[in-house]
Amino acid sequence: MLVLGLETSCDETGVALYDSERGLLADALFSQIDLHRAYGGVVPELASRDHVKRMLPLIRQVLDDAGCVATDIDAIAYTAGPGLVGALLVGASCAQALAFAWDIPAIGVHHMEGHLLAPMLEDAPPAFPFVALLVSGGHTQLVRVDGIGQYQLLGESLDDAAGEAFDKTAKLMGLRYPGGPEIARLAERGTPGRFVFPRPMTDRPGLDFSFSGLKTFTLNTWQQCQNSGDDSEQSRCDVALAFQQAVVETLTIKCRRALKQTGLNSLVIAGGVSANRALRTSLEDMTAALKGKVFYARPAFCTDNGAMIAYAGCQRLLAGQHEDLAITVQARWPMEQLPAL
Ligand SMILES: Nc1ncnc2c1ncn2[C@@H]1O[C@H](COP(=O)(O)OP(=O)(O)OP(=O)(O)O)[C@@H](O)[C@H]1O
Ligand SMILES: [Mg+2]
Repeated sequence: MLVLGLETSCDETGVALYDSERGLLADALFSQIDLHRAYGGVVPELASRDHVKRMLPLIRQVLDDAGCVATDIDAIAYTAGPGLVGALLVGASCAQALAFAWDIPAIGVHHMEGHLLAPMLEDAPPAFPFVALLVSGGHTQLVRVDGIGQYQLLGESLDDAAGEAFDKTAKLMGLRYPGGPEIARLAERGTPGRFVFPRPMTDRPGLDFSFSGLKTFTLNTWQQCQNSGDDSEQSRCDVALAFQQAVVETLTIKCRRALKQTGLNSLVIAGGVSANRALRTSLEDMTAALKGKVFYARPAFCTDNGAMIAYAGCQRLLAGQHEDLAITVQARWPMEQLPAL
């Protein structure tokens, strides 16, 4: 089954062609980062308008790259939520219009299920069951995964998501948007041990997270440096490292706790923050000590992309699921509401 995947939940237009027999044939992405950078974050209306401009050229591009024509496509998968409603509607309307014109089925995919399943596109994918840590711009969740659509939420952030904490902290320190890669870049040159920040909510039981206090702690430390006349690049790197280490260690402690609690030893990490190298190394060390393994996608498939939507949609289509012609999207959509395969 050849599936066209469309992703438009936020500020990336992602398109891909995934074949259930041959794997991923092509994927293309247009990132709107430059468009939103001047505003320090995503402007929803600008995002929607840009998706409209990019979608059809990207579909033509993936067809060319894969050496396919429109009539080869068996079904269309699109992100139906959660995300920005206007942006989601662009992908949903486009998918439903093409599905109607080509007389093929369409399926609305849950964006976080897409992220969660992205590591399945790599060689040596994880086997069910496993614990998944979803760490993106809008979500920080620990989920027990027993199969596609069999999700049990174990814990989540009570305030900022991990990616959001990276982005907001970077903004407070005068860094560019998106802040995750910027902080990671500075942290590489940081002096270990100069600053040590708290590991929020690790001193009590449970699997929930809270990152908003860490953001304030980081700002206060950076302002103390500046007030004492030290706004050097080295101090910025040292603060960035202390922040990153606090996030990484907090996530590692909670992942270890989730693995112990469930008795599992496979951990999947997904979403933009799973591209962070310090996080990957820390989780690799932690899972190795438990004789387990951590799985993640290539960096391009950690952040938003069409390939994960094509893959997730394909699994559900193969199980016989699809939508009727209605265009429905959901800004908020708990993943546990998804039907099991
Ligand atoms: N190397 C990195 N280190 C830390 N954070 C990173 C890194 N690369 C990307 N990020 C963060 O990942 C986030 C983007 O990830 P993603 O595209 O998965 O999120 P989103 O789609 O905006 O949110 P959601 O998927 O929850 O709707 C941003 O917050 C960005 O700062
Ligand atoms: Mg995302």
